[in-house]
Amino acid sequence: MSIKIAIIMGSQSDWDVMKNTSKTLKNLDISHESRVISAHRTPDLLDEYIAQCEAGDVQVIIAGAGLSAALPGVIAAKTIIPVVGVPLIAGSLDGMDALMSIVQMPPGIPVGTVAIGKPGAINGALYAAAIMAVNDSSIKNKLIEYRATQAQKVIEAKLD
Ligand code: RP5
Repeated sequence: MSIKIAIIMGSQSDWDVMKNTSKTLKNLDISHESRVISAHRTPDLLDEYIAQCEAGDVQVIIAGAGLSAALPGVIAAKTIIPVVGVPLIAGSLDGMDALMSIVQMPPGIPVGTVAIGKPGAINGALYAAAIMAVNDSSIKNKLIEYRATQAQKVIEAKLD
C-alpha cells in the first residue's frame, strides 16, 4: 500500500460527508484512499484492511461512522497507527450518539475525535496532515499556506 492516509467509513451513506475529508487531503496533495468497511457488518474485512495498512506505509487512519459508531474504536484497538474519528449524523440523535461513542474511548486505546459531520470531516483531514507534518516539511508548508489562504478570505470578506 503506497497511500499515506486511509479513510474508512461504515457505510456508503457516509460518503456525502466523508468526501470532504478526501477533498481536503487531495488539496494538500497527500496520497490517500477511501473505503467503505463496517465494524459491525464486515468485521473480518476490517481486520484484513487494517493488516494491509500496517504492512504498507499508512501513517494515519481517518474513520467516519454514525449511530453506535464502533468503527474508529475498533480500528484503534487493532493498530497503533493514529486514528482520527469523525462522528456522523445517521439517526434521530443528530450525531450525538456517534460523538459520545467515538469520544468516550476507555483509557489505553485513544481515538482523536473531531466535530460532528462536515466540519469534523474537514478537520479530520487537517489533523491527520498535522500529524504527518511533524516529519514532513512539504506537508507542513502546505498547511501553513492553507491557513494563510483562509485568513485572507476572512480579511477580504465583503458584506452586502
Ligand atoms: C453506521 O451506520 C454507518 O457509519 C452509517 O453512518 C450508519 C448507517 O448506515 P446505513 O444503514 O446507511 O448503511 O455503521
